[in-house]
Amino acid sequence: MSEANIESILQEKRLFSPPTDFSEKAHIKNFQDYQQLYEKAKANPEKFWAELAETELDWFQKWDTILDWQPPFAKWFVNGKINISYNCLDRHLKTWRKNKAALIWEGEPGDSRTLTYAQLHREVCQFANVLKQLGVTKGDRVGIYMPMIPEAAIAMLACARIGAPHTVIFGGFSAEALQNRLLDAQAKLVITADGGFRKDKIVALKEQVDQALTNNGAPSVENVLVVERTKQKIHMEAGRDHWWHDLQQSVSADCPAEPMDSEDLLFILYTSGTTGKPKGVVHTTGGYNLYTHMTTKWIFDLKDTDVYWCTADVGWITGHSYIVYGPLSNGATTLMYEGVPRSSNLGCFWDVVEKYSVNIFYTAPTAIRAFIKMGEHHPKSRNLSSLRLLGTVGEPINPEAWMWYHKIIGNQRCPIIDTWWQTETGGVMITPLPGAISTKPGSCTLPFPGILADIVDLEGNPVSDNQGGYLAVKYPWPGMMRTVYGDPDRFRRTYWEHIPPKNGKYLYFAGDGARKDEDGYFWVMGRVDDVINVSGHRLGTMEIESALVSHPAVAEAAVVGKPDEIKGEEIFAFVTLEGNYTANDDLKNQLKQHVVQEIGAIARPGDIRFTDAMPKTRSGKIMRRLLRNLAAGQDVSGDTSTLEDRSVLDKLREGD
Ligand code: PRX
Repeated sequence: MSEANIESILQEKRLFSPPTDFSEKAHIKNFQDYQQLYEKAKANPEKFWAELAETELDWFQKWDTILDWQPPFAKWFVNGKINISYNCLDRHLKTWRKNKAALIWEGEPGDSRTLTYAQLHREVCQFANVLKQLGVTKGDRVGIYMPMIPEAAIAMLACARIGAPHTVIFGGFSAEALQNRLLDAQAKLVITADGGFRKDKIVALKEQVDQALTNNGAPSVENVLVVERTKQKIHMEAGRDHWWHDLQQSVSADCPAEPMDSEDLLFILYTSGTTGKPKGVVHTTGGYNLYTHMTTKWIFDLKDTDVYWCTADVGWITGHSYIVYGPLSNGATTLMYEGVPRSSNLGCFWDVVEKYSVNIFYTAPTAIRAFIKMGEHHPKSRNLSSLRLLGTVGEPINPEAWMWYHKIIGNQRCPIIDTWWQTETGGVMITPLPGAISTKPGSCTLPFPGILADIVDLEGNPVSDNQGGYLAVKYPWPGMMRTVYGDPDRFRRTYWEHIPPKNGKYLYFAGDGARKDEDGYFWVMGRVDDVINVSGHRLGTMEIESALVSHPAVAEAAVVGKPDEIKGEEIFAFVTLEGNYTANDDLKNQLKQHVVQEIGAIARPGDIRFTDAMPKTRSGKIMRRLLRNLAAGQDVSGDTSTLEDRSVLDKLREGD
C-alpha cells in the first residue's frame, strides 16, 4: 500500500451503523447477536460447527469425530459422507427451488442464459457422465481452463459429483503456466473451450491447451473435452480431443452423486507464494462445503429472493467459493458475467445490475478505483436501486474508494462488507456481518464466528492495540486448506512454523501485516512476504523473476511492487543483462512479452529498469527494500549501512 493510503487509513475515524431496515430483516440482526454467536463459537468451536453442519447440510452418513487436529494437519467431520454437488443441486430439487433460477449468465457479446436448479442439475449429471465415459474416475484430477461461461461451473460441479478433484486454471494464464499446473496435479483430463470473449477480443484457449500438451508436455493428460463458445476454427486432435456437445447427445441425465468422504480432496487451486513455484492449495469436501455455505449465508445475508453477483473469475478462489459453491449450496440465484469493463462499454457492470435487478454485488477495490476514474455518469445513468448490499475483496480498500462505493453505487443505503480472506482460508475470515457490525472505511472489522484471529509478533505474542504485527489464526476452521498438494512440508513451513509453535500451540501465519484498533477492528495493510497484489491478483515476485531470467538476455532480475493508483500495485522489474545485450526499449518490450508468455498477461511488468548491478548486502542478498523505495520514487539515502557497494545506488537513481 502507498504511504498516502496508509496515512489516510491511520487517520480514518468514520463509523457507519447498519441501516435499521437492513438489520431488521438480516440473519444476524444486531451486535449482541453477533457477539453471542462469536462467544459461543469461541467457547467450543467444534460444537458450534457441528451444530451447523447438522442443520445446514445434507450428509449421506454422519461423522464420528468433529475435528481431528494433529497440528498442522486438520480433519473435519471424520468419516462423514457427503457430496457438495448434491448439496448445491439435488437437495434443492425436493423443494420449491426446483424451478428457481440457479445460474443467470450474461455473455460479453450480449447473449444470455438462465438455468434453473432442475436444468443445472441435468447438465451437471450429463457432464459427469461424459467425464466417466472418458475414463475419469473418483480421485482422478481434472484441469479446467475455461472462459466465464456456465459450463465452467457445470464442469466443476460435475467433477465434484463423481469425486474427481478439479484444478481450475485461470483463462488468462499462458500455455507454460497451464502446463506447469497440469503437470503438478497430474491431471488426467482437461476441460476447455474453443475460445472465450474478453475485452471485445477472442482468447484462444484451445490453442494454449494444444501448446501445453505439445511434445508430450503433460503426459498424464489423456483427453481434452472442448466446449463450443466462440465458434472459431480450432485444431481437434483425433483420439484426444472431444466436443462436449457431441458427447452430450449420447449420455443419460442420470448420475447419482458419489458419497465422498468428508476429507476427500475437492479441489486444488494454485496460488503464488514466496518461491518461484506456485503452490497447489488443497481443499477437501465436508469442511469446505460447510464453511462456504455459512459464510455466504451470513455475510451476504442471502435471501431466497436475491439476485447475487460476484464479479470474480471462477479461476480464482473467490469464484470457487462465492460464485459456485457457497451460493448454490444455499439455493441462491448466482449471476455470472463473461465481460469486464472495456473501452467499448465502460458501463457494462451497471447495465448488468439494472438488467437483472441485482441485489448483492461483490467486487474488488481495483475495480472500484477503475470505476471512479471512468466517471460517475456511468453508474448514475443506470437504475441501481435494486442493490441492497455491497462487498469488496482481494486487497485493502482505501477509504476514498470505500466512500465512493458507498455514495455512488450504494446511494448511502447499502452496507459495505470488506471481506478479508485468502485462497488458503477457503472462505471469508474477517468481515462485517452487514446487519450487525458497524463499518469503518478501510477496515475489514471483526472475525467471523468460529474464527480466532489475532495480531501477533514473530514470536507469536499478541501485540497491543494499534501496533502493527502479523495476522494469525489461532484455531483450525472447517474451510482451511489441508496441505500443499504433494508437499506437506511446504505447508508446515510456510503457514504453521513461520511463527514457531510454542507448547504444541500452532498459529496460522497468513502472510499479511495488520493492526487491531481499540474497538478490536482489524486493518489489513498488505503482504509482508514477496507476494505482490496487482489488481487483486496475487503474484510471487520470484515467479516473475524466474520468468525474466529464463530469457537469454537476462543475467539477474529483481521484481518489486510499485504503488499504483488503480491496480494497488504495479510490477516493477530491475534487470541486469548478459554482456552481449544492449539495453533499449525494444528489449524491454521483448522481456515484457516473454513474461506474458511464461505466466500470462496478468504478470506483464509495468516497467523494467536496466541496471549494471543490483544493490546487495555483503552476504549477497538483494536489498529489495531499497528497490521498492526506488520504484516508488522515494528517498533511499536512509539506512544503507549493510549495502556492499554504495555506488550501485547512485547508478540506479540515474536510471530514473
Ligand atoms: O493480502 C491479502 C489480500 O489478498 C491476499 C489473498 O489473496 P488470494 O489468495 O489471491 O485471495 C484473494 C481473494 C480472497 C491476502 O493475503 N486480501 C484479500 N482480501 C483482502 C485483502 N487485503 C485487505 N483487505 C481485504 N479485504
